[in-house]
Amino acid sequence: MSWHEWVRNAEVEPSLYAADLARLGEQIDVLLRGGCRIFHFDVGDGHFVEPITIGPVVLESIAPLVHEAGGVLDCHLMVDNPLRHFPQIARAGGDSATFHYEVVDDVPTTIDAAREHGLQVGVAFNPESEPEDVAAVAPDADLVLCMSIHPGYSGQKFMPDAVDRIRRLRAALPEHVFVQVDGGIDHETIGAAHGAGATLIVAGSAVFGSDDLTRSYRGLVQALA
Ligand code: DX5
Ligand code: ZN
Repeated sequence: MSWHEWVRNAEVEPSLYAADLARLGEQIDVLLRGGCRIFHFDVGDGHFVEPITIGPVVLESIAPLVHEAGGVLDCHLMVDNPLRHFPQIARAGGDSATFHYEVVDDVPTTIDAAREHGLQVGVAFNPESEPEDVAAVAPDADLVLCMSIHPGYSGQKFMPDAVDRIRRLRAALPEHVFVQVDGGIDHETIGAAHGAGATLIVAGSAVFGSDDLTRSYRGLVQALA
């Protein structure tokens, strides 16, 4: 299976970092029943980003629940040394790994290294990096992730200039590479991000900030239609 089989048209990916971690399995189950199949899983190492977030131990606990329902786990590695983490992510049941452009010297080699572990691969970039520079080295990735916040925490405000960076990225990438957006996506911002070319749309607080997860997830999906 690959990203091209996982993605129906455009996908809203709930970011589990924003979930109530005391009720993680229950919340995933609700979203699976609501039609969600791709979950975003944020691994932060306390160096590349300030917080230590969630990692392979948590991933391993939830992977069977997600996989049994035909879902996948899209892992966003906000870490300094992604090569060190690919094997653990794959072993714990991650389906894809997205590493940051800013931390590696050789993007194509790092993509190959992730594939060796059976992972689908993404390349993420921060607001300070130029979309064209990233696109130039990532034609063999499955997705490129345009951050619309500075990575680290859920609940930040969408940076409006991300819309133009998404557009530039979409124009610079081969068609088969998906464009993903992450940070500050809600009912107000999702339309512009999608309109600019993002088809994988990560949403943390806009999904988990509500008491009715099915409703908040479906509301975002409907906003894409
Ligand atoms: C933070 C993470 C995001 C985060 C998004 O850097 O990469 O995935 O959970 O949360 P929201 O949608 O609330 O900005
Ligand atoms: Zn993320």
